Amino acid sequence: MKGIILAGGSGTRLSPLTKVTSKQLLPIYNQPMIFFPLQTLLNAGIKDILVIVAPDHAGDFLKLLGSGQEFGCKFTYEIQDKPQGLAQAFLIGENFIGDDNVTLILGDNVFEDNFADAIASFKNGGRVFAKEVSDPNRFGVVEFDDQKKALSIEEKPVHPKSNFAVTGLYIYDRSVVTKAKTLQPSSRGELEITDLNMLYLQEGTLDVSFVEGKWLDTGTFESLFEAYTFIREREINK
Ligand code: G1P
Repeated sequence: MKGIILAGGSGTRLSPLTKVTSKQLLPIYNQPMIFFPLQTLLNAGIKDILVIVAPDHAGDFLKLLGSGQEFGCKFTYEIQDKPQGLAQAFLIGENFIGDDNVTLILGDNVFEDNFADAIASFKNGGRVFAKEVSDPNRFGVVEFDDQKKALSIEEKPVHPKSNFAVTGLYIYDRSVVTKAKTLQPSSRGELEITDLNMLYLQEGTLDVSFVEGKWLDTGTFESLFEAYTFIREREINK
């Protein structure tokens, strides 16, 4: 299993904080944001990690993360020239992924859960993780039937069919690269991870599991503040 941390994007929702640095380098209490998704991959036993960054602050990521030796892993770096969607990670990462399975984690997602079992038991298809939230229209939203079987996923729907957001950790088999190549940009000009998940869902190979602990997408001021408070509490109660 290989890992990808996607830390591209321009972080416009956090401007002016993101004017001179990258969103994923901003602090969450005592650590840079990207350390949290990195730790999630490391805790899951993933040691071969591609870090995808935007061109503007690429050098800062290199300075912060280095070769990976300090973290007991190996980093490879790629540039995402323009923020053209999460699913683009699999086109950029094609050579890195090769014939392996891959876990993508978003560089602004903070998880409390440990995904080691979910990753160890993964064989093929896709596996995503849903979490009940109060503001589903910020996210990809999964609709379930009575048996909690996923029926559909919609990206930032105006009228969400459930309160379950698809969180920013995705496990895929190697067919993800071929699937990503068939995607067309959405109305916002991005290759949507939701469209990729829909391909697996239509194929009948998408497993939708659930996140049990805390989950935060720290892309807004409110969620960044919430993450800060959460990590601070965790640190002082250690
Ligand atoms: C992205 C995805 C969305 C997902 C979310 C999780 O949204 O497009 O489907 O629910 O990440 O953090 P973004 O935060 O990039 O707008």
